[in-house]
Amino acid sequence: MVNNDRHIVNVALIGFMGTGKTSVGRLVADLLHFDYLDTDETIQTHTGRTITEIFKTDGEPAFRALEQKVVQELAGRKRTVISTGGGLPANPDNLASLKAHALVACLWASPEKIWERVRHQGHRPLLHDADPQAKIRELLAAREPFYKQADVLLNTDLRSVREVAQQVVHQFRLESSGRR
Ligand code: S3P
Repeated sequence: MVNNDRHIVNVALIGFMGTGKTSVGRLVADLLHFDYLDTDETIQTHTGRTITEIFKTDGEPAFRALEQKVVQELAGRKRTVISTGGGLPANPDNLASLKAHALVACLWASPEKIWERVRHQGHRPLLHDADPQAKIRELLAAREPFYKQADVLLNTDLRSVREVAQQVVHQFRLESSGRR
Protein backbone atom coordinates (compact mmCIF):
# COMPACT_ATOMS: atom_id res chain seq x y z
CA MET A 1 0.00 0.00 0.00
CA VAL A 2 1.14 3.52 -0.68
CA ASN A 3 2.64 5.40 2.20
CA ASN A 4 1.43 8.89 3.21
CA ASP A 5 4.94 10.41 3.14
CA ARG A 6 4.92 10.01 -0.58
CA HIS A 7 3.86 12.68 -3.01
CA ILE A 8 2.82 10.71 -6.06
CA VAL A 9 2.82 12.93 -9.14
CA ASN A 10 4.67 10.69 -11.63
CA VAL A 11 4.55 7.11 -12.85
CA ALA A 12 7.71 4.98 -12.91
CA LEU A 13 7.84 1.72 -14.82
CA ILE A 14 10.37 -0.84 -13.68
CA GLY A 15 10.94 -4.38 -14.89
CA PHE A 16 13.23 -6.65 -16.83
CA MET A 17 14.41 -5.97 -20.39
CA GLY A 18 11.71 -6.92 -22.88
CA THR A 19 8.72 -6.57 -20.56
CA GLY A 20 7.30 -3.66 -22.59
CA LYS A 21 8.26 -0.64 -20.46
CA THR A 22 8.79 1.57 -23.51
CA SER A 23 5.54 0.75 -25.36
CA VAL A 24 3.46 0.74 -22.18
CA GLY A 25 5.18 3.90 -20.89
CA ARG A 26 4.51 5.86 -24.08
CA LEU A 27 0.84 4.86 -24.04
CA VAL A 28 0.45 5.70 -20.32
CA ALA A 29 1.98 9.12 -21.02
CA ASP A 30 -0.51 9.62 -23.87
CA LEU A 31 -3.49 8.56 -21.77
CA LEU A 32 -2.54 10.81 -18.84
CA HIS A 33 -1.20 13.67 -21.01
CA PHE A 34 2.12 13.35 -19.20
CA ASP A 35 5.67 13.76 -20.51
CA TYR A 36 7.60 10.58 -21.25
CA LEU A 37 11.19 10.01 -20.19
CA ASP A 38 13.45 6.98 -20.51
CA THR A 39 16.47 6.72 -18.19
CA ASP A 40 18.63 4.98 -20.83
CA GLU A 41 17.82 7.69 -23.39
CA THR A 42 18.61 10.40 -20.82
CA ILE A 43 22.00 8.80 -20.13
CA GLN A 44 22.69 8.60 -23.86
CA THR A 45 21.75 12.25 -24.37
CA HIS A 46 23.86 13.41 -21.39
CA THR A 47 26.95 11.45 -22.40
CA GLY A 48 26.59 11.48 -26.20
CA ARG A 49 27.33 7.72 -26.12
CA THR A 50 25.25 4.59 -26.50
CA ILE A 51 24.62 2.26 -23.55
CA THR A 52 26.65 -0.42 -25.35
CA GLU A 53 29.64 1.95 -25.68
CA ILE A 54 29.44 2.93 -22.00
CA PHE A 55 29.39 -0.74 -20.89
CA LYS A 56 32.26 -1.58 -23.26
CA THR A 57 34.56 1.33 -22.47
CA ASP A 58 33.81 2.15 -18.84
CA GLY A 59 32.16 -1.03 -17.54
CA GLU A 60 28.87 -1.73 -15.79
CA PRO A 61 29.68 0.07 -12.48
CA ALA A 62 30.23 3.34 -14.39
CA PHE A 63 26.87 2.85 -16.13
CA ARG A 64 25.16 2.19 -12.77
CA ALA A 65 26.62 5.43 -11.37
CA LEU A 66 25.21 7.38 -14.34
CA GLU A 67 21.87 5.66 -13.81
CA GLN A 68 21.78 6.67 -10.15
CA LYS A 69 22.60 10.27 -11.04
CA VAL A 70 19.68 10.40 -13.49
CA VAL A 71 17.33 8.98 -10.84
CA GLN A 72 18.39 11.66 -8.37
CA GLU A 73 17.76 14.37 -10.96
CA LEU A 74 14.19 13.12 -11.44
CA ALA A 75 13.12 14.16 -7.95
CA GLY A 76 11.72 17.51 -9.09
CA ARG A 77 9.70 16.15 -12.02
CA LYS A 78 5.93 16.37 -12.25
CA ARG A 79 3.43 14.71 -14.63
CA THR A 80 6.05 12.43 -16.14
CA VAL A 81 6.07 8.76 -17.03
CA ILE A 82 9.54 7.43 -16.31
CA SER A 83 10.62 4.25 -18.03
CA THR A 84 13.68 2.74 -16.33
CA GLY A 85 16.51 0.42 -17.38
CA GLY A 86 15.98 -3.17 -16.25
CA GLY A 87 18.76 -3.16 -13.64
CA LEU A 88 17.98 0.20 -12.07
CA PRO A 89 15.79 -1.00 -9.15
CA ALA A 90 18.47 -3.46 -8.02
CA ASN A 91 19.96 -0.43 -6.26
CA PRO A 92 17.62 0.14 -3.27
CA ASP A 93 18.45 3.88 -3.24
CA ASN A 94 17.03 4.18 -6.75
CA LEU A 95 13.79 2.49 -5.79
CA ALA A 96 13.41 4.60 -2.64
CA SER A 97 14.08 7.77 -4.61
CA LEU A 98 11.47 6.90 -7.27
CA LYS A 99 8.89 5.94 -4.66
CA ALA A 100 9.02 9.38 -3.08
CA HIS A 101 7.36 10.98 -6.13
CA ALA A 102 6.11 8.20 -8.41
CA LEU A 103 3.72 5.30 -8.42
CA VAL A 104 6.09 2.42 -9.18
CA ALA A 105 4.61 -0.22 -11.47
CA CYS A 106 6.60 -3.32 -12.35
CA LEU A 107 6.02 -5.11 -15.64
CA TRP A 108 6.68 -8.81 -15.32
CA ALA A 109 7.15 -11.51 -17.96
CA SER A 110 8.32 -15.11 -18.02
CA PRO A 111 11.93 -15.81 -19.15
CA GLU A 112 10.50 -17.50 -22.28
CA LYS A 113 8.43 -14.46 -23.24
CA ILE A 114 11.36 -12.13 -22.55
CA TRP A 115 13.60 -14.20 -24.80
CA GLU A 116 10.97 -14.17 -27.55
CA ARG A 117 10.85 -10.37 -27.36
CA VAL A 118 14.57 -9.58 -27.14
CA ARG A 119 16.17 -12.31 -29.26
CA HIS A 120 16.25 -10.22 -32.46
CA GLN A 121 17.52 -7.06 -30.76
CA GLY A 122 21.23 -6.54 -30.23
CA HIS A 123 21.48 -3.37 -28.17
CA ARG A 124 21.56 -4.89 -24.68
CA PRO A 125 25.13 -5.56 -23.54
CA LEU A 126 24.09 -7.86 -20.67
CA LEU A 127 22.60 -10.29 -23.17
CA HIS A 128 25.77 -10.47 -25.28
CA ASP A 129 26.44 -13.79 -23.61
CA ALA A 130 27.21 -17.31 -24.79
CA ASP A 131 23.91 -18.46 -23.29
CA PRO A 132 21.55 -15.45 -23.23
CA GLN A 133 18.56 -17.52 -22.12
CA ALA A 134 20.41 -18.74 -19.02
CA LYS A 135 21.54 -15.17 -18.39
CA ILE A 136 17.92 -13.96 -18.52
CA ARG A 137 16.85 -16.61 -15.98
CA GLU A 138 19.79 -15.82 -13.70
CA LEU A 139 19.30 -12.02 -13.74
CA LEU A 140 15.54 -12.29 -13.42
CA ALA A 141 15.87 -14.51 -10.32
CA ALA A 142 18.44 -12.16 -8.77
CA ARG A 143 16.26 -9.10 -9.39
CA GLU A 144 12.90 -10.57 -8.46
CA PRO A 145 13.07 -9.38 -4.81
CA PHE A 146 13.62 -5.80 -6.01
CA TYR A 147 10.92 -5.88 -8.69
CA LYS A 148 8.46 -7.19 -6.11
CA GLN A 149 8.84 -4.01 -4.08
CA ALA A 150 6.85 -2.11 -6.72
CA ASP A 151 3.41 -0.73 -5.82
CA VAL A 152 1.82 -2.75 -8.63
CA LEU A 153 3.06 -5.90 -10.33
CA LEU A 154 1.59 -6.60 -13.77
CA ASN A 155 2.19 -9.76 -15.74
CA THR A 156 2.50 -8.85 -19.41
CA ASP A 157 2.73 -12.39 -20.82
CA LEU A 158 -0.93 -12.54 -21.88
CA ARG A 159 -1.96 -8.89 -21.81
CA SER A 160 -1.83 -6.36 -24.63
CA VAL A 161 0.12 -3.12 -24.28
CA ARG A 162 -3.21 -1.25 -24.03
CA GLU A 163 -4.54 -3.47 -21.24
CA VAL A 164 -1.36 -3.07 -19.21
CA ALA A 165 -1.28 0.70 -19.79
CA GLN A 166 -4.92 1.03 -18.70
CA GLN A 167 -4.19 -0.86 -15.48
CA VAL A 168 -1.26 1.43 -14.73
CA VAL A 169 -3.41 4.53 -15.35
CA HIS A 170 -6.19 3.13 -13.14
CA GLN A 171 -3.76 2.46 -10.31
CA PHE A 172 -2.15 5.89 -10.69
CA ARG A 173 -5.55 7.61 -10.46
CA LEU A 174 -6.32 5.70 -7.26
CA GLU A 175 -3.00 6.44 -5.59
CA SER A 176 -1.87 9.81 -6.88
CA SER A 177 -1.58 12.78 -4.56
CA GLY A 178 -3.42 15.14 -6.88
CA ARG A 179 -6.68 13.15 -6.99
CA ARG A 180 -9.03 14.42 -9.68
C1 S3P B 1 19.82 -3.27 -18.45
C2 S3P B 1 18.67 -2.97 -19.18
C3 S3P B 1 18.67 -2.01 -20.29
C4 S3P B 1 19.81 -0.99 -20.11
C5 S3P B 1 21.12 -1.70 -19.93
C6 S3P B 1 21.12 -2.60 -18.69
C7 S3P B 1 19.72 -4.26 -17.34
O1 S3P B 1 17.43 -1.31 -20.33
O2 S3P B 1 19.58 -0.15 -19.02
O3 S3P B 1 21.37 -2.44 -21.10
O4 S3P B 1 20.61 -4.25 -16.47
O5 S3P B 1 18.74 -5.03 -17.30
P1 S3P B 1 16.04 -1.97 -20.80
O6 S3P B 1 15.45 -2.69 -19.62
O7 S3P B 1 15.21 -0.79 -21.18
O8 S3P B 1 16.33 -2.88 -21.94
